[in-house]
Amino acid sequence: MKKIAPMERNYSLLNHNSFGFDVIAKYFVEISTLQELHELIKDDVFRKSNKLIMSGGSNLLFRNCFFDGFVIFPNIKNYETMEEDDKHVIIRCNGGELWKDFVDMAVSKNLYGIENLSDIPGKVGAAPVQNIGAYGSEIKDYIFQVHTINIINGKEYIFSNKDCRFSYRNSIFKQDSYKHYLIYAVDFILHKRGILNLDYGNIRNYLAQKGINNIGLKDVSLAVKDIRSSKLPEVGKIGSVGSFFKNPIIEKEKLDHLKSLYPDMPSYPEKNHCVKVPAGWLIDKSGWLGYRENHVGVWDKQALVLVHYGGGTPQEILDLMKKIQDSVFEKFNLEIQPEVNIV
Ligand code: EPU
Repeated sequence: MKKIAPMERNYSLLNHNSFGFDVIAKYFVEISTLQELHELIKDDVFRKSNKLIMSGGSNLLFRNCFFDGFVIFPNIKNYETMEEDDKHVIIRCNGGELWKDFVDMAVSKNLYGIENLSDIPGKVGAAPVQNIGAYGSEIKDYIFQVHTINIINGKEYIFSNKDCRFSYRNSIFKQDSYKHYLIYAVDFILHKRGILNLDYGNIRNYLAQKGINNIGLKDVSLAVKDIRSSKLPEVGKIGSVGSFFKNPIIEKEKLDHLKSLYPDMPSYPEKNHCVKVPAGWLIDKSGWLGYRENHVGVWDKQALVLVHYGGGTPQEILDLMKKIQDSVFEKFNLEIQPEVNIV
């Protein structure tokens, strides 16, 4: 029997984007099973419409208040162990699970790898798209393969880790020609034994201050959660997408020049004689920390985060973005690019 998911018209995405903009989608459908997805792909209205796959909406900014097309909200849940030996476990997690719940599950089962990625908002299906990363870890190191459906022709396709072409906050799924691949499940490879990564930022100091010596997975996860909540706005209370900009990667020579002007400029080594410079520091030093203009502003504890206080429009964020980009360029001669997916 056919199972067709109910299609909504003129649907408010207010509760579907963490920026909290009241964007209206012409059509909206929530998908809970693969069968529903296959039926949808055969639908005439769907086939003819402009399409957007929307996951947790925690890294998304609409340009306008109306989306003239079809928003698909894949919400297929559950996970299962696919393979296991004495060192590793491969877990297939469907895209509709919350990323933070998946990490908590791994930590509670003493599986190593993704603990530094605790509490990142969003869903599992969106995590590979921008290769989520935090506190010295990136998801690319724990992805085995990614299960997708091409929403134009209904064909299923598995991307190996290599096929995904992961790099800093980037993957093949960010390219326009791959945006019609809906990620419905991800196979993760997690480790039964591992080395904790405490070297990024203040994780080690935080644990020392709490007097924790015999450090375990749960301690690291809790430390990351605490450090994050002290710096980032609470999801669901203040509109934001976490980091709005990417940290620019520049050549070492350019850094040397900038360091002669700004000796305290932080930087992290990258491949090919390059370094990553924190955009938050550049924006902060350009005077934007805590800035507010009408309904939008710059978070006062982390300048990389733009916030929407409610009642505003996406255009206000886009205008603020442009002003910040221009001022950072003027001061440092560096271009900063948005990390958020602008549609
Ligand atoms: N800094 C400032 N002022 C600010 C913000 C940062 O001086 O307003 C300085 C900090 O003092 C530090 C440096 O910039 O020396 C880096 O700051 P932080 O460690 O907070 O990290 P980040 O580079 O700003 C990145 C990720 C975050 C992730 C943190 C921790 C990107 C774009 N962002 O931020 O990711 O949580 O590292 O690993 O790479 C996200 O993607 O949404 C996100 C929050």
